[in-house]
Amino acid sequence: MNFYVLTLFPELIDGIVNTSITGRAIKKGVLRVSTVNIRDFSTRRDGRVDDYPYGGGAGMVMEAEPVAGAIASVKEKAPGARVVYLTPQGPVLTQTKAEELAREKDLVLLCGHYEGIDERVLDEYVTDYLSIGDYVLTGGELGAAVVIDAVSRFVPGVLPNEDSARFESLQDNLLEYPQYTRPVEWRGRKVPDVLLSGDHSAVSAWRAEQSLKRTGERRPDLLKNHYRVFCLTAGGDKASAAGAEFLNAVSRLGEVFSFDRRKLIKSGWQFKKNDLAIFACSPGAMTEDERFQKVKGNGTPAVILLVSDQETAGESEAAAHMRSLLEQKGFRVIAEEMLPDETEGRDIPGMAISVREKLLQLS
Ligand SMILES: C[S@@+](CC[C@H](N)C(=O)[O-])C[C@H]1O[C@@H](n2cnc3c(N)ncnc32)[C@H](O)[C@@H]1O
Repeated sequence: MNFYVLTLFPELIDGIVNTSITGRAIKKGVLRVSTVNIRDFSTRRDGRVDDYPYGGGAGMVMEAEPVAGAIASVKEKAPGARVVYLTPQGPVLTQTKAEELAREKDLVLLCGHYEGIDERVLDEYVTDYLSIGDYVLTGGELGAAVVIDAVSRFVPGVLPNEDSARFESLQDNLLEYPQYTRPVEWRGRKVPDVLLSGDHSAVSAWRAEQSLKRTGERRPDLLKNHYRVFCLTAGGDKASAAGAEFLNAVSRLGEVFSFDRRKLIKSGWQFKKNDLAIFACSPGAMTEDERFQKVKGNGTPAVILLVSDQETAGESEAAAHMRSLLEQKGFRVIAEEMLPDETEGRDIPGMAISVREKLLQLS
């Protein structure tokens, strides 16, 4: 992935990104971070790029033209790149946003200084506004370094073990469980027995419970955005494989239930408001099954994934029919996707990110 950082202080960026994990990724060629000094595009003899604000007031404002020149110089190399302006006025960076940005090939990060940048050049070029927190920094460089660090963790090849980007704090709007390493006992404090048991399912259950407990204690605000994710599948292996893949991309804690297994949902299935229900099936396979009658929502967000060999008029009708049945049952359908049953050409991680962003907007 290529980052282009437009700044008045390139040395600030270079010092941070060339160290540790991002530094190694740059050496390996998995990441490229290029800095562009906005001062090089000054239109004035003295090299200045700032001027007094119209209307008066404290401080200086960065002029439009040097910023436009710096952006244009990068656009020659990366014409379609999104231009992200680091600003306290943007939405605050989240783990989901970092994952979404990591899907870009090129990203331009624009750092302001002084009182900010002339609004007109922002209107002309900026595609995204991003803050790194509700406080005001002197310049955008620390923000750009934070974005590069958080985004890079999702770029394949940056972390030694790619799973570690997904399996840590905030993936499901939960904090991570406590971690321990050797020795087993330190100053009289022992590692919890379950972690020494070798029983993987007991370890997973303990970690899930600790995550929930810790989030409740330390970041209760996150819990309103935490969804338990379930995937119901029907209509064969391809539908259930697509459902499972989608669920894994949305949550590390989800569960899959298949209508193809006879015993499912004998007594009915009641979803809650903070559940996400994914219905992955071939057209008609689920709605025609009598057990579908027993599925109920309670303002529950739902995703329809229709998996079939080709898009047909019948398929859109099946999706519309399913949507209306689900809405009658108390679900809020937030996404509806037709998926080819062949894996090639489908972008399940991209769909999952967009669903996670929609969930964040619901609360
Ligand atoms: C002193 S700030 C300007 C703040 C501006 N006058 C305002 O009130 O919105 C200078 C620059 O620092 C960067 N910056 C400040 N706080 C930031 C934050 N929380 N996140 C990202 N960038 C920030 C922006 O690039 C901004 O242009």
